[in-house]
Amino acid sequence: MAKIIAIANQKGGVGKTTTSVNLAASMAATKRKVLLIDLDPQGNATMGSGVDKYDEPATCYELLVEESPFEEVVIQETSGHYHLIAANSDVTACEVKLMEMFAREVRLRNALSKIRDRYDYIFIDCPPSLNMLTVNAMAAADSILVPMQCEYYALEGVTALLDTIEKLAAVVNPALQVEGVLRTMYDPRNRLANDVSEQLKRHFGDKVYRTVIPRNVRLAEAPSYGVPAMHYDKSSAGAKAYLALAGEMIRREENKRQAPKEAVAEV
Ligand SMILES: Nc1ncnc2c1ncn2[C@@H]1O[C@H](COP(=O)(O)OP(=O)(O)OP(=O)(O)O)[C@@H](O)[C@H]1O
Ligand SMILES: [Mg+2]
Repeated sequence: MAKIIAIANQKGGVGKTTTSVNLAASMAATKRKVLLIDLDPQGNATMGSGVDKYDEPATCYELLVEESPFEEVVIQETSGHYHLIAANSDVTACEVKLMEMFAREVRLRNALSKIRDRYDYIFIDCPPSLNMLTVNAMAAADSILVPMQCEYYALEGVTALLDTIEKLAAVVNPALQVEGVLRTMYDPRNRLANDVSEQLKRHFGDKVYRTVIPRNVRLAEAPSYGVPAMHYDKSSAGAKAYLALAGEMIRREENKRQAPKEAVAEV
């Protein structure tokens, strides 16, 4: 049964999509069966997976609004060897359409309930806003992975995000948990980054991944070739960091399974 993880932060440009694509590819490289869902009308995760968003692919619009069968919407051929539910500007209309629909918050959850046993991990790349699509992601997910840049206002932003998640979770998904906090675009020579990083650890404890994603030009270049970094330059620091993150997530899961009684903090 797949673990469903929403990759979310309402702040723009913090590395949500980079994390979605590269973590999905890294998990796929460890022979896990992975589905990546692009819920952002920008379609960056779609393009970064080697699928042309302008080529009229089936998107999450069909899945959520038209209730097309999953098999008709899922794209099985991607450059990262995972399955993809695509997004493009058509998805903008989801917002309006969903507002008029029955059970609008749980349409993604319902769609995934039928197919989650086919995958080990389902990652959801959220848009940088708290709209009905993000609400659908929160309602469908087991947990949220929060990527963040270690800069001055970062902690404030994350506290606000967690506050929102808590309120939302109470309504649509009381079991929702924080999967982890990921430091992205990290520069260890930057003192502020180190200070913020320490604050994060004090605040979130071992929810902060040990793995840090460095600022790495290969991670920024790879999407223009439509591939995850590990298929563009597998020796790059960026590609290695996301492989390490996948390893850390897998180890955390194994540890949890070995110590099932250990309480897991809920959001
Ligand atoms: N570790 C990194 N090193 C260098 N560049 C990065 C790194 N992570 C992300 N970037 C670049 O930073 C920009 C923003 O990253 P990304 O698109 O992943 O963020 P996002 O949170 O998904 O943005 P949005 O909120 O618009 O969806 C992109 O141009 C991306 O290539
Ligand atoms: Mg994005």
